[in-house]
Amino acid sequence: MKNKVLDKFKELFGAEGDIKAYFAPGRVNLIGEHTDYNGGHVFPCALTIGTYAAARKRDDDKLRFYSMNFENLGVIESSVIDLKNKKEDDWTNYPKGVIWAMQKKGFKIETGMDIVYFGNIPNGSGLSSSASIEVLTGYVLKEMFGLDVDNINIALIGQYSENNFNGVNCGIMDQFAIAMGKEKNAIFLDTADLSYEYAPIDLGSKKIVILNTNKKRGLGDSKYNERRSECETALAELQKVVDIKSLGELTEEAFEANKDAIKDPVRVKRAKHAVYENQRTIKAVKALKDNDLALFGKLMIASHDSLRDDYEVTGIELDTLVEEALKQDGVIGARMTGAGFGGCAVSIVEGDAVDAFIANVGKAYEEKIGYAADFYVVEVGNGPCVL
Ligand code: GLA
Repeated sequence: MKNKVLDKFKELFGAEGDIKAYFAPGRVNLIGEHTDYNGGHVFPCALTIGTYAAARKRDDDKLRFYSMNFENLGVIESSVIDLKNKKEDDWTNYPKGVIWAMQKKGFKIETGMDIVYFGNIPNGSGLSSSASIEVLTGYVLKEMFGLDVDNINIALIGQYSENNFNGVNCGIMDQFAIAMGKEKNAIFLDTADLSYEYAPIDLGSKKIVILNTNKKRGLGDSKYNERRSECETALAELQKVVDIKSLGELTEEAFEANKDAIKDPVRVKRAKHAVYENQRTIKAVKALKDNDLALFGKLMIASHDSLRDDYEVTGIELDTLVEEALKQDGVIGARMTGAGFGGCAVSIVEGDAVDAFIANVGKAYEEKIGYAADFYVVEVGNGPCVL
C-alpha cells in the first residue's frame, strides 16, 4: 500500500523533495452505540485496514488533493487561504475541513501541500472512512508543520471539522478510536470527560467478522441528527426532575423512576436506549475483563435489539444480517455497528466456523434482500503513523 500511494504521488506530482507516506486506521465499535453524544461510554477499536496518504509540503498556498478511490474526480485544487465547504470539491471537503479547523484552533498553516490518498476501508460502510481521512490529515499536518498537537486533540479537531465544516453532528467516538487505536486493544472511553482505558481483546480462537449490508445510505445523516435532537429534548425534560448533565449519568433504575417526565413515548424509547446501552457497555467491558465472552455476546445481542426496537436505526438489511448470524454455529454475538440505517454489523465467531458462517449468512441475506453482503475478518490495529 505504501508503495502504491507513493508511486501514484510521484506519477502525478513528481518525485522530487521530501515525500512521506502515512497511515490512519478505520474503526469498528464493539458495543456502546449512539451513546457518545449522550455522555455515555463506547467500546470501539481501530482496525488494520484504513487510509494511506503520500504528501509533500509546498512553498505556496496551494492544496492539491487526489484520491485513488475517486480517480474519476482527478486532482482537486484549493488554497489554505479562506477555506470554505464547496459542493464541487466533493470528498476533499473532509481534509479541507481539518486544515480549516486547525487554523481556527490557532495552528499556523500558511503553505499548502500535495497529497494522494488511498483507502482500503469500503466507502460508506460505516467503518469510518471519513473520520479516518480526518485523523490522517490532522496527523500529516502535525508531522509536516511540526505542530504541537497530541492525538486526542487531533481527534477533537477532526470532530470539530466534521460538525462545523461538513455539517454532520457526529460524536467523538470515531475520531478518538482512530487517533488512539492500539493493536490488540479496544478503547473503553467515557465520552462525558474523555477518560479512557485500553482493554485487551484476547479472543483466543475467535475472530471479529464484519458484515457489510452494502446498502446505499441516503437519509442517514438527517436521521442521525434527528435522533440527537430527540435525546436532547428528552434530557431537558428529565432535567426538570433530576440533576444530571447527560443521559449517561442515569442508571437503569434512576431512568425508570423518572421517565414519566418525558412527555412523548417515542422520546422515552430513545432515552431508554441511551441509558441502557451505556450501562450495557460498562457491563460488557467487565465481562471481557472476567473472560466471560458468552456474556459479552449476550450484551451485543441486547444492544442490537435495543437499536432495532427503541432507537429504530437498524432496518431490514442490518436486522437480516444479525438474525441470520445468530442462527449459525460458533457465533458468540452480533449487532449493528456505527450509525446504522445500513452500513455494517459486527460479530464474534469461532475461527473454525467462520467459513460456514460467511457462506450461510451470505446466502440467506442475498435471498431475502436481493443483493450480496460482504464479509471481512478483521484484526485490531494501531492509530496513525508515518510509514
Ligand atoms: C457515527 C458517529 C459516532 C457515533 C455513532 C453511533 O459513527 O460518527 O459519533 O455517534 O455513529 O454510535
